[in-house]
Amino acid sequence: MRVGPETPIQRLAAGEPLPDWVTRLDRTAFGSAWKAPAYHEALWLVPERAFARWTLIPATGEAELLRIAVDPAHRGSGLGRTLLEACQRDLAGAGLIHLFLEVRVSNAAAIQLYRVCGWKPCGRRSRYYPDGEDAALYQRGDYSPDPAVLE
Ligand SMILES: CC(C)(COP(=O)(O)OP(=O)(O)OC[C@H]1O[C@@H](n2cnc3c(N)ncnc32)[C@H](O)[C@@H]1OP(=O)(O)O)[C@@H](O)C(=O)NCCC(=O)NCCS
Repeated sequence: MRVGPETPIQRLAAGEPLPDWVTRLDRTAFGSAWKAPAYHEALWLVPERAFARWTLIPATGEAELLRIAVDPAHRGSGLGRTLLEACQRDLAGAGLIHLFLEVRVSNAAAIQLYRVCGWKPCGRRSRYYPDGEDAALYQRGDYSPDPAVLE
């Protein structure tokens, strides 16, 4: 599939059934498959090729990218970037502008994707993953917590 403005991107909201291809791609990319989106989650899909799953916190204008995956046969052609930028536009339109994620420090492809989409490193969690690998933390959008909540 050619990646461009015509790339079909759909949003799957809480309560909608998860397509089988998402489950298959979830297993291929991460070794495990998550269930249909919960009430506080949303998925953006490029049918049969890619998905991105988010947790949404509308009250605070925050969202966390939980998983993004492109079918191995379609990686490296700009699809991940097209999908992530579409998510970012939709989220911003809904007032969700403080974005967060964590990623394995060894995941060069994902880290490059996040960087080209405007994300900045903001921390690291030591031995975060079950195999002992560290997680790098990234954020997008200026996030400065209300000092009152820190007291
Ligand atoms: C991470 C992933 C979603 C990227 O999707 P993709 O469609 O291949 O990425 P794109 O083609 O849009 O590339 C986006 C940027 O990343 C770069 N990139 C892609 N693959 C790369 C690789 N293997 N190594 C280094 N950079 C890479 C591209 O060059 C591009 O940067 P550029 O614009 O500076 O050239 C995909 O590799 C994937 O599904 N990985 C497995 C699941 C995963 O690890 N998800 C992230 C953790 S939740």
